[in-house]
Amino acid sequence: MAHVRLFSGERMPLEMHKVRIVQKLNLPPVEYRHQAMTEAGNNTFLLQNEDVFLDMLTDSGVNAMSDRQQAAMLIADDSYAGSATYTRLDKKLREIFGFDFFLPTHQGRAAENILAQVLVTPGSVVPMNYHFTTTKAHIVLNGGSVEELICDAGLEIDSDEPFKGNMDIDKLVACIEQNGPDKIAFVRMETGTNLIGGQPHSLENFAAMRAVCDRYGLLLVMDASLLADNLYFIKTREAACKDMSIREITRKIADLCDVMYFSARKLGCARGGGICVRTDELYRRMRGLVPLYEGFLTYGGMSVREIEAITVGLDETMDEDMINQGPQFIEHMVGALVARGVPVVTPAGGLGCHIDAMRFLDHVPQTEYPAGALGTALYIAGGVRGMERGTLSEQRDPDGNETLANMELLRLAMPRRVFTLSQVNYAIDRISWLYENRELVGGLVFTEEPEILRFFYGRLAPVTDWQDKLVRKFREDFGDSL
Ligand code: F0G
Repeated sequence: MAHVRLFSGERMPLEMHKVRIVQKLNLPPVEYRHQAMTEAGNNTFLLQNEDVFLDMLTDSGVNAMSDRQQAAMLIADDSYAGSATYTRLDKKLREIFGFDFFLPTHQGRAAENILAQVLVTPGSVVPMNYHFTTTKAHIVLNGGSVEELICDAGLEIDSDEPFKGNMDIDKLVACIEQNGPDKIAFVRMETGTNLIGGQPHSLENFAAMRAVCDRYGLLLVMDASLLADNLYFIKTREAACKDMSIREITRKIADLCDVMYFSARKLGCARGGGICVRTDELYRRMRGLVPLYEGFLTYGGMSVREIEAITVGLDETMDEDMINQGPQFIEHMVGALVARGVPVVTPAGGLGCHIDAMRFLDHVPQTEYPAGALGTALYIAGGVRGMERGTLSEQRDPDGNETLANMELLRLAMPRRVFTLSQVNYAIDRISWLYENRELVGGLVFTEEPEILRFFYGRLAPVTDWQDKLVRKFREDFGDSL
């Protein structure tokens, strides 16, 4: 089911589910939001969720479950070893992806820990389309380094390239030649590339990567955490795949990998993770680490209830009606913002809508964290919580200088099946208002800056009294509305 066509000729995304359990939301007044943001140290991670109206921080572990997932949780088998729940997941993974071996982990980064410990050696290199924070951290922790070989369009904010997550195959060959195949730990493809705006790769590009890996005898590893979105884009944007079912496309992708790991906080709409492996040899090398870091091999640190939900969630991910909801809502949001002149990452990707804070706030220098500042302004303007993806999320260099990010993005994630279209339209309205009043928004400065992961715990303050002015303008324009 694609968008529906309205009588007016317009297209509209239509929810192919109904809401049967609800959670009450609060939208406190703008003055309260300003106060809450101050108390949270101008860091959206430090807000209390009860003060947030639309939580667009992430799509991780916060997707809506289906009635079938909830029902499956009731029949979970708690046994420590040999749980029937685990057997059901193992069977479902074989059915959908076709790997012979599976290692369960408590979430995606735990899978990355095991993979890096087994495959990365000091001085080795991992070429990839683009890094994800936790992936890179585990590779570096084990003495390796990351080479990002994303196609040129991948780093352009504004583009009509349908597959901005594609790997540049020439750069991959050059990287292997330069380092020598012996130095390559593995080649990694991140499907639905997170940090460049949830942008997809094509099946064709992935097949070309496989051919290069075959030529040099290298392992091809896929981070499939955002596979659901990428499947939708392959189906709708890649002409050669338009008549294939989601199951067929999934199998074609999986057949190209030696290893596929995922965060089930995203793929499967529950909470957990794991690693699918092709060969017994590799499985045995990794197996010992699961009981050490995660838990016994038949639960891997996950609750059995969550495992049941993942099994059903994976099955539902093979349904076009399910996987198109997120990307279609994002496309609606991106389209509406573009029409109002707001700078966003285009074309619309998966995961969420990404606002280009560098252009939105072109008067705020990168050293005053424009994406972080925009995040605080949007919360004040509308109770919407986003996530900074820019300089604030980087670490200072050893001399204490800022590492300026390639992009200053405010990510507004679209958890799957969670929001209604009117809530998304409300967010669009408040962002548009903020854009009209963007000259009021100023930068931020750290008042408490932790040495590591400063974006999680750091506290900041506005550089001037710009937030007070923003609150006053809100009252002028919206009267006593929330
Ligand atoms: N790989 C990708 C592509 C991810 O997006 C994430 C998580 C992980 C690995 C790690 O998985 O959280 O289960 O340990 N992304 C979350 C986000 C944190 O908000 O984008 P995890």
